[in-house]
Amino acid sequence: MSGLLRTEGVCCYFGGLKAVDNVDMQVEPGDIFGIIGPNGAGKTTFFNVCSGIYKPTHGKVYFCDQDISNMSQEAISHLGVGRTFQTTQLFQFMSVLENVKIGCHMGTKTNMFDAIFHTKTYRADEQYAEEKSMETLRNAGLEQYANTLAGNLSYGIQRRVEIARSLASSPKILMLDEPAAGMNRLETDALRDFLKELNAKGQTILLIEHDMKFVMNCCNRIMVLNFGEKICEGSPEFVSGNKEVQTAYFGSRTFGKDVEANAEN
Ligand SMILES: Nc1ncnc2c1ncn2[C@@H]1O[C@H](COP(=O)(O)OP(=O)(O)O)[C@@H](O)[C@H]1O
Ligand SMILES: [Mg+2]
Repeated sequence: MSGLLRTEGVCCYFGGLKAVDNVDMQVEPGDIFGIIGPNGAGKTTFFNVCSGIYKPTHGKVYFCDQDISNMSQEAISHLGVGRTFQTTQLFQFMSVLENVKIGCHMGTKTNMFDAIFHTKTYRADEQYAEEKSMETLRNAGLEQYANTLAGNLSYGIQRRVEIARSLASSPKILMLDEPAAGMNRLETDALRDFLKELNAKGQTILLIEHDMKFVMNCCNRIMVLNFGEKICEGSPEFVSGNKEVQTAYFGSRTFGKDVEANAEN
């Protein structure tokens, strides 16, 4: 077994800037794997390489042992990599159900012709998307919001709808970029419980998070990035007790500010 998602020596350079530098990672099925590191450490860039938005400058990305380093975002998503972004990306003037259906359509066969002429394929896909979306909303405890406009929901619920949209395509791995960003402590705790429930049902999760308490309570394995490089990896206990991490990250001013910001929430 060589992991569900694996990177080998992944680098992503922007001109002279080494945003991600020689990162090896292996996410096993059933993990809640956390990536932490100060602002600008390369976390989002690394996610973008893993999900096909950027191509690695050097190195390889494997998903289920298949080399996906040069595949398109769409192809990678079809293989079973679902992701959310750092900022909310819901269609504010569409209902929750319609937003989640978009996630379902990633896996259907409907093309432009089918959609314009309402062909049999289109009708079958529509019915499938509707049923699958409702099921996903039920599983995510969001059923009561199905017909609410996304823009009318609280921020915390909007972020959960985004996760539900990614789940609608039944991804083998769910990648979340700072899912707790901007949430208050109550919303953050509810999100952590939700992710743990999903994980208990077998969902593998890879997440980037700034909120240390969240990561320490949620993840079984953590990788620390600093200036694009991996400086530590292990259990929450191991990572929080690691000297290099404490010096490079815990002791940094950025982290000090994060703790204060989190304490206010
Ligand atoms: N498209 C891009 N072009 C140039 N530089 C970028 C680009 N995306 C990110 N960077 C730079 O790469 C570094 C890592 O950024 P990022 O991956 O967003 O960090 P993080 O998510 O850990 O805060 C930063 O210095 C950022 O300015
Ligand atoms: Mg980021």
